[in-house]
Amino acid sequence: MSAREGSEVLDRTAHVAAAEGALLRADELVAGYFPGVNILNGCDLYCREAELVGIIGPNGAGKSTLLKALFGLVKVGSGRITLRGEEITGLRADRLVQQGVGFVPQTNNVFPSLTIEENMQMGAYQRPKQFQERFDVVVDLFPALGQRRSQRAGSLSGGERQMVAMGRALMMDPSVLLLDEPSAGLSPVMQDEVFLRTRQINRAGVSVVMVEQNARRCLQICDRAYVLDQGRNAYTGTGRELADDPKVTQLYLGTLAKA
Ligand SMILES: Nc1ncnc2c1ncn2[C@@H]1O[C@H](COP(=O)(O)OP(=O)(O)O)[C@@H](O)[C@H]1O
Ligand SMILES: [Mg+2]
Repeated sequence: MSAREGSEVLDRTAHVAAAEGALLRADELVAGYFPGVNILNGCDLYCREAELVGIIGPNGAGKSTLLKALFGLVKVGSGRITLRGEEITGLRADRLVQQGVGFVPQTNNVFPSLTIEENMQMGAYQRPKQFQERFDVVVDLFPALGQRRSQRAGSLSGGERQMVAMGRALMMDPSVLLLDEPSAGLSPVMQDEVFLRTRQINRAGVSVVMVEQNARRCLQICDRAYVLDQGRNAYTGTGRELADDPKVTQLYLGTLAKA
């Protein structure tokens, strides 16, 4: 097998060409939490209109850091992020929300002492007039959120809280939704539900960039994916290409990946 065969990202030029016209795009991102200590060491990523893009990789690879960098929560040292071709590197999260980027962090992603409805109001605080219209859309996707609108989020199960978190992000009608490990810690049934809903949100026209610990399931539902390792893209390709790539399987989906 040649070194460039299959899904390996070695050809930045090809990746840059493919990224042309993408909705959200990151080029050669270098970022970290402390000056001089980089967690992302030159990451590239793009997400086209209506695409579902997965990010998988070992613990500590920098997947959450990448999403946080895209959402303006981690300082980008060098590299560039664009949304619809316009540079958004370093923009604050609230500005990004206004421009159509939604983010669901992995943890602490609901206000536990607030009701479901109040959580949704927090999601729409920048556009309170649109509350009812957006709440209807969210309840269409997650009917349970409507039925239990006056229940406190803290009293819900993990799966239900995840629905609240995704619903809250959808209140601003995002063009692209960044999801950090939405299925983590959930029962198998709830994991299925989360994957199903994510696909449904995506089919409704929302682009999705999804970090997932359940790599196999992620590759099954995504259009394309990136394998992140040590702050760099190790591989990219369609979900199917990556799932069928023996090196990806051995390194990231096999026993090593479970360790
Ligand atoms: N808030 C933080 N402050 C300092 N270092 C952090 C912080 N969050 C993550 N890191 C470090 O960044 C690296 C990548 O972490 P993370 O992006 O969370 O990886 P992943 O999501 O792929 O498991 C790890 O070495 C982790 O210890
Ligand atoms: Mg993480």
